[in-house]
Amino acid sequence: MNAGIFTKCLEFTIPAELKKAGLYPYFQKVESAQGPEVTIDGSKKIVVCSNNYLGLANHPKVIEASCEAARRYGTSGTGSRFLNGTTDLHEKVETKFAKFVGKESAILFTTGHHSNLGALSTLIGKGDFVITDKLDHASMIDGCRLSQGEIVRYRHNNMGDLERHLQRYEDKNKLIAVDGVFSMEGDIVNLPEVVKLAKKYKAGVFVDDAHSLGVLGKNGKGTGEYFNLENDIDVLMATASKSLASVGGFIASSKAIVEYIKNSARSLIFTASLPPACVGAIDMALDLIVQEPQRRAKLFENSNKMLREFKKLGFNTSNSSASPIIPITVGTDETAFKMWRRLFDEGVFASPVITPAVPAGQAIIRTSYMATHTDEHLDFMLDKFEKIGKKLGII
Ligand SMILES: Cc1ncc(COP(=O)(O)O)c(C=O)c1O
Repeated sequence: MNAGIFTKCLEFTIPAELKKAGLYPYFQKVESAQGPEVTIDGSKKIVVCSNNYLGLANHPKVIEASCEAARRYGTSGTGSRFLNGTTDLHEKVETKFAKFVGKESAILFTTGHHSNLGALSTLIGKGDFVITDKLDHASMIDGCRLSQGEIVRYRHNNMGDLERHLQRYEDKNKLIAVDGVFSMEGDIVNLPEVVKLAKKYKAGVFVDDAHSLGVLGKNGKGTGEYFNLENDIDVLMATASKSLASVGGFIASSKAIVEYIKNSARSLIFTASLPPACVGAIDMALDLIVQEPQRRAKLFENSNKMLREFKKLGFNTSNSSASPIIPITVGTDETAFKMWRRLFDEGVFASPVITPAVPAGQAIIRTSYMATHTDEHLDFMLDKFEKIGKKLGII
């Protein structure tokens, strides 16, 4: 333990200091199922930090499908998809997903993170360029970093800056890789312009629909459907850990592209397959997205109400507009921790997002909504945000 390599760990005291001050917000121990209310330390909290957008994580049919899959296939594939971890249920769900999003083929990874690692690291080869939005999710950045190509970043949703980079690398093979809905900001990629520029400069288009699947578009098919540009997304990534109420990640595309990724992605080949119970949950959640469109309608009724009311109260909600993610800018990291603590004590479970995830002085409380929040939940939260926002001088 005296080796110098560990010095950084011994000197890393921030969490301990925050804990001492009662301001450490992370790794809260939830003692109940995921829903609009949870129990933490024996007391009830209203949840405003979950990605359980459609409220399916606690749906009896999803739970039963998950149990049934475990009874039939056991608890684990005990190996990778490549060698011995694929079941007919994995393949059934891949086919169902590909059909749902209108692609020829799909492959299911063990997490969304793994799918971005696997797809991006294999698609971007030596001499290729990947052009990413500066606020793309960390898993996309990690996937690009694992590749042998060059990474170029453009200013968030700034199409002029994107075009500048495309012009610079006009004669190169390149991929534009973007989030559909940006996970912290809650704004939506300018897909029409991305597609137009991709065509002009012969770039591929990769969209991470982690926060859009089940949410955006008339049928919940994601960002492509929202803009009526489904066929212009070359490679679609979606995670099963949000609207699909499970764990796992999909890459959907043409047969040739999926086959290539499937046979070369290290994060697929060298890791265990998604457990059957999780695949069973996805299978049912995909059906419920189609069968229960009222969930999406309620989700938007809830998030539109919150956006309207937060704005009325004078909170800064940045560019969030048509997604269930509403960031509340509060100022310094310290203010975000204080706001989190006071909300928590008043019965609201929220998450603070601090530097370096956001620029210094622009820490946020990231709020996100579910179809299963009731008006009483929302009014309760608004009341607490108003009271604490005023006390901390945020509004
Ligand atoms: C935009 C985005 N992409 C990818 C991921 C990774 O997905 P998963 O959590 O399923 O591994 C996340 C998860 O937070 C995300 O927000």
